[in-house]
Amino acid sequence: MNITILAGGLSPERDVSLVSGGLIARALAERGHKVLMIDVYEGIDLGGRDARELFTDTPPADFGISDRVPDLDEVKKRCGGRAAKIGPGVIDACRAADAVFLALHGDMGEDGSLQATLDNYGIKKYTGSGYAGSLLAMDKDISKRMMRPAGIPTPDWLYFDTETDTYERILREVGLPCVVKPTACGSSVGVSIVGSESELDEAIKFAAGYERKIVVEKKIEGREFSVGILGENALPPIEIIPKSGFYDYKNKYQSGCTEEICPAELSPEQTARMQDYAVRAFRCLRLSGYARADFIMDTEGEFWCLEVNNLPGMTPLSLLPQEAAAAGIEYGELCETIVKMALEKAV
Ligand SMILES: Nc1ncnc2c1ncn2[C@@H]1O[C@H](COP(=O)(O)OP(=O)(O)O)[C@@H](O)[C@H]1O
Ligand SMILES: [Mg+2]
Repeated sequence: MNITILAGGLSPERDVSLVSGGLIARALAERGHKVLMIDVYEGIDLGGRDARELFTDTPPADFGISDRVPDLDEVKKRCGGRAAKIGPGVIDACRAADAVFLALHGDMGEDGSLQATLDNYGIKKYTGSGYAGSLLAMDKDISKRMMRPAGIPTPDWLYFDTETDTYERILREVGLPCVVKPTACGSSVGVSIVGSESELDEAIKFAAGYERKIVVEKKIEGREFSVGILGENALPPIEIIPKSGFYDYKNKYQSGCTEEICPAELSPEQTARMQDYAVRAFRCLRLSGYARADFIMDTEGEFWCLEVNNLPGMTPLSLLPQEAAAAGIEYGELCETIVKMALEKAV
């Protein structure tokens, strides 16, 4: 198959995405496919060629990831400050492919807007969820509103307008400790844990730097887990134990900062309960293909779903690929399975 891999983009998670994209491209090439990896914002200069000529079995080398969120203004400047989020040649490269692997994280890849664009161009064979599910899952306020009536426990929260709401509302309706987060970011970008009133202002301003409307959620004390879903089936849960602080950007992507245990040490009943919540969340948010749900188990043993990631990290060391490996699905096979599901969905 000829497979276009879209990565990068103008998202704070672009570096993570480029790492995922590079490794997905290599894994698919190793399984006999021809690949074309493109930074969706930078695009590709076709130079008059047919995009079909550009697929290769020797994809680009690995990309690196620093401990800081990338500077998007610098990326924009490199492309002449262009406002359009989809670069030149991208749609042609998607049209020319048998399948499009969305290795994006955050922004247009995760909020459904790229999926809507591809749909409108008649490009249906892309991996993961469609635009509606992507939008529902990406917005933490909307997804929590949908999960609650579906019987999936999610911590109490407040949808907070950083320009008009008061801090008293947070103290009254959510209380401390709480977690302050942008509504539609990922990778813990803009997330702070607030233990005392004096920390609130800084946390709100930090999240407001990403979005005007944010989510302020009750902090759940306990153990953190994540459950991947492939097709409609839950994978073995993984436990996440940061060596210090919470599971923030640095602890997510710098090696050695977080211990990850897969399969998680839980009773069969606890595992089944969390997997059941994960699959129900996946369905109620209208997701398809694959996704990953994040949970905290409180000291009483109850699970609280924080969110569902519709385009979870896809390096071999990312959580979902580790879970797939624990279920006997190695990385290349996982990438290929995700592509096959995209073709089935498109029929
Ligand atoms: N309600 C909460 N209670 C305890 N920890 C939380 C809570 N919400 C978020 N966190 C911590 O912050 C991290 C990021 O939050 P999450 O809601 O998963 O957003 P993101 O989309 O950035 O991953 C979680 O992995 C967890 O470590
Ligand atoms: Mg998360």
